[in-house]
Amino acid sequence: MVVEEPGEILHISTLSGKLNGQQVVLRGWIYTKRLHGRLVFLTLRDSTGLVQVTIHKGQLPEEEFETAQEVTVESSVTVGGQVKADPRAPGGVEVQCTTFQVLAKAFDDYPIQVGAGKEFLLDKRHLHIRSPTVTAILKVKASFIQAAREGLGKNGFIEVHCPLLINVACEGGATLFPVNYFKRKAYLSQSVQLYQEAAITALEKVYSVEPSFRAEKSRTRRHLTEFWQIEAEAANTPLTEILKIQENLLTTACRLVRERSKAEFKFLRRRFKPPKPPFQRITYSKAVEILRGLDVEFEWGEDFGAVEERVLSKQFKQPFFVTHFPRRCKAFYHDPDPTDPEVTLSADLLAPRGFGEIAGGGQRISDFALLVESLKEFKLNPEDYEWYLDLRRYGSVVHSGFGMGVERVIRWMLRLPHIRDATLFPRTPARVYP
Ligand code: 4AD
Ligand code: MG
Repeated sequence: MVVEEPGEILHISTLSGKLNGQQVVLRGWIYTKRLHGRLVFLTLRDSTGLVQVTIHKGQLPEEEFETAQEVTVESSVTVGGQVKADPRAPGGVEVQCTTFQVLAKAFDDYPIQVGAGKEFLLDKRHLHIRSPTVTAILKVKASFIQAAREGLGKNGFIEVHCPLLINVACEGGATLFPVNYFKRKAYLSQSVQLYQEAAITALEKVYSVEPSFRAEKSRTRRHLTEFWQIEAEAANTPLTEILKIQENLLTTACRLVRERSKAEFKFLRRRFKPPKPPFQRITYSKAVEILRGLDVEFEWGEDFGAVEERVLSKQFKQPFFVTHFPRRCKAFYHDPDPTDPEVTLSADLLAPRGFGEIAGGGQRISDFALLVESLKEFKLNPEDYEWYLDLRRYGSVVHSGFGMGVERVIRWMLRLPHIRDATLFPRTPARVYP
């Protein structure tokens, strides 16, 4: 491995026609190589983009020219040269090479070739993430999380960091991943909600950006076994208020991402119009009515599946809320509607045009006796939830929260074929490698 410290190293994205004639040094990886007699054409890749590098024999030391001729795809290199404005080149410039050093020559059998199959690319995900497409998606995801943090922070939410090794289910026992915790049973977190409910008595408004795990065998384009949520919880906040907070969060974050990630949206050829508030709110019962009107057979009381969400969300052009789900299709913590205890003060946020759920939440049971009753009804042992019950014993308040699935939002924004495309290393029932 060559270790050297040349002068200032520029990123490819900083090159422009304005630097025409200037000497620059770049560091990156060989994306493509073409030989053409006394010329070598390279595409150099770094975290910010691609640039063409032209290497003329005679414009750099003979030995360095030979190195360039022999360099393999994905070798790490340092390239020095002169910027030349070239309107035909992607990015409007190319670099005419005058110095060429290989930091580490790649083996000459780089496995990823044009036309590789999906499963193969997933097996080689550790290499495939270098592709400009994956890079662009990862940047949009980072940009969304950052924007969401800013939005929530501005609204007085304080970031908290909750445990991911937990003792009780938040979203039902069926999807818990058990962990052998020093001979005791523990689980991987499905949601940090219960811990956030504890935190609001100290901090009032909190949010977290954390992974969630679901031992769900569903092999769909929208389920992962490990995914990220942006979750928020607020004290003295009823359902109606938390909907506004969600609406505000999604619109602000989408707008900021659209502004800040212009290059990525352009590269991915994705036109995305950030949604505008207010989002429509319809009750679950109204949604069932709409579905039946569209000839979908559906029993009141069931939770919506992929089909129902697709059909329903095709009726909308903006994200929308479905509220007041029946008790029996939601988790134990949802507050019953005092005017109709068959339904809960819950809400899912669905993305339009066939996409479906991107966030779920609502108002939580704040009454001690009601919570105990609900736990029992859901066949959960109140003793296991002792600490959670304490939150209703000491200083309980009306409170609400939500969890937004980060990969779901990114898949929707970028219209990705599969949710795993929105992750660095997807985890699905069939995959924990690489
Ligand atoms: O609807 P869910 O299960 O709600 C909760 O976990 C609440 N405790 C959150 C809260 O109120 N703090 O999950 C929230 C969101 C879903 O709307 C969806 O976007 C995403 O997380 N999600 C998944 N994303 C990918 N793969 C899965 N298996 C997912 N399950 C849920
Ligand atoms: Mg849900």
